Amino acid sequence: MLIDRYGRRIDYLRLSVTDRCDLRCTYCMPKGFNGFEEPEHWLSFDEIERVVAAFARLGVGRVRLTGGEPLLRRDLPVLAARLSRLPGMADLSLSTNATQLGRHAGALKQAGVNRLNISLDSLQSERIATIAGRDVLSDVLAGLAAAQAEGFQPIKLNMVVQPGVNDDEIEAMVRFSMEHRFILRLIETMPIGTTGQQSGFLDLQQVLKSLSRQFDLVPSATELGGGPARYWQSRDGEFTLGAITPISQHFCATCNRVRLSVDGTLYLCLGQNDKLALRPLLRSGASDEELEQAIRDAISLKPERHEFREQPSKVIRFMSATGG
Ligand code: 5AD
Ligand code: SF4
Repeated sequence: MLIDRYGRRIDYLRLSVTDRCDLRCTYCMPKGFNGFEEPEHWLSFDEIERVVAAFARLGVGRVRLTGGEPLLRRDLPVLAARLSRLPGMADLSLSTNATQLGRHAGALKQAGVNRLNISLDSLQSERIATIAGRDVLSDVLAGLAAAQAEGFQPIKLNMVVQPGVNDDEIEAMVRFSMEHRFILRLIETMPIGTTGQQSGFLDLQQVLKSLSRQFDLVPSATELGGGPARYWQSRDGEFTLGAITPISQHFCATCNRVRLSVDGTLYLCLGQNDKLALRPLLRSGASDEELEQAIRDAISLKPERHEFREQPSKVIRFMSATGG
């Protein structure tokens, strides 16, 4: 088992399979950004499988594929199938912007992907164009429909709330999610990269209070995916609202995760710069034991908490590089 210096059990890996994306959400990547990782630095499917198998032997049975936009990585369902078959793999999930989900939902389901998180910040075409760089609403809606038709359950919608940009749409997103049986999660924008630092953040505590009053929601003890979100439910249990509040109420004390970027760097905290490069090991003939020891060593570097409030300009890498 992996236990860090603060007694936290690490059992969850977020695996970025590409730092590229077909969108440019303002809080994530700068317009016109082109500083992507060279293909020869990308971990191959064999290398990824080897690292994930090592994590699984160390008790990390839950993996989320992320990016950038993971569906831009060619043959992602092939990788997903290889990972979901590994001994010790309990839960394989995917975060996507859903622009290409319509084409891939079936293959992903077949490959053993259990759960989907989908980014959706607005239901208005022009607004999506402003936030994400172009209007992809119809593709995203087609992706959502395809995911539902394939039987993915639950499907979570992630809405990054930005004051003055989309905070007036929270209620509409709640109604949309109720109608279509999605779990809606509101997210406070984190100061990650210059992009995240220039985006405003909205303290969600008040918003949550008034939403629970308006929609008669009660706090829910349900653990949904074992992440940092807190949940509220309608009394009939049909609708679930979640909130991820890294700024107004951080959850570092129960953090259970680390992140592996496409170039094989293990990041120990979203809000800190601590990291350990695994690629050199993988490409210099290290044994499985050496790989496992390197992972244990990295876990011992995991910082206690982020300092988004105290040091909001600390993390200069973009969210798309670390894996969202
Ligand atoms: N703050 C909060 N969430 C972010 N994401 C990307 N950048 C940020 C940020 N600065 C989210 C996306 C998506 C996931 C990949 O990460 O909206 O849900
Ligand atoms: Fe792409 Fe997701 Fe970043 Fe938007 S938030 S630019 S969809 S990686």
